[in-house]
Amino acid sequence: MADSLDASWVDYYQKVYAADNTWLDYSNAHVQGQTFGIALEAAGPISGKRCLDVGCGRGQLSLALAALQAKEVVGVDIIADSINACRERHPQVRWEIGTPENEEFCKSLGQFDLMFCIELLQLVGWQKTLRSLWDRVSPGGRIVVIVPNKNNPIVQKTIARFAGKYVAPNPAELTELVSELPDVDCWAFRGMDFQQDQRIVPYVTSPWVNSSSSDITSNRLVIAIQKRSNIMNPSNN
Ligand SMILES: C[S@@+](CC[C@H](N)C(=O)[O-])C[C@H]1O[C@@H](n2cnc3c(N)ncnc32)[C@H](O)[C@@H]1O
Repeated sequence: MADSLDASWVDYYQKVYAADNTWLDYSNAHVQGQTFGIALEAAGPISGKRCLDVGCGRGQLSLALAALQAKEVVGVDIIADSINACRERHPQVRWEIGTPENEEFCKSLGQFDLMFCIELLQLVGWQKTLRSLWDRVSPGGRIVVIVPNKNNPIVQKTIARFAGKYVAPNPAELTELVSELPDVDCWAFRGMDFQQDQRIVPYVTSPWVNSSSSDITSNRLVIAIQKRSNIMNPSNN
């Protein structure tokens, strides 16, 4: 599998951005809104935290983090037009064009107390990206990831459709990677499934677990990984 899948997605997302919707390639704004809500719940308190939103899209989650009184918010995306539009409209957030697959770029962003990686990992080399983002998490900090689940039959169809470009993990693979990360204090994940009737909430979530329950077949996985706070030499450069 290629380490870097991003080139093939630039064209795809430029077209998604050209369509005048706020919810990108989510099914609708409701699904996107609840996804952000679930990510914020997994993150815990935001106030006073340095936050990174990787693959920030139109920047709505970044703006929510700023409104929730984060100390600093950095929104990163590979689509220059979208980031430039965010820069013009929303100076309260630092907007950067780039990909977390580029380790130098990742390092240049600094360290973060909270990191959000929402609907991005399937588009990049997810293991390498998650490892290098983890290096940028401050002691005591946390990363929240929402990613399609390779064990889900609907996701499997998408994987087949974008053969080789859309590479989603399953719970067993994710937990194996977490077990290899240094300085993990604690972690947990849960599943998210679409409801057939989306009039109240589009998703139903399963309870948090922290074993490699590889039989979870939910459409999405939400994972939160927290770093130990008592690290002697954090990799901060
Ligand atoms: C499904 S959208 C999710 C956007 C946003 N996180 C949200 O939930 O609304 C995926 C985003 O990842 C961005 N993206 C795709 N490949 C990327 C890469 N290699 N590096 C950074 N961003 C990337 C796309 O431009 C798009 O904005």
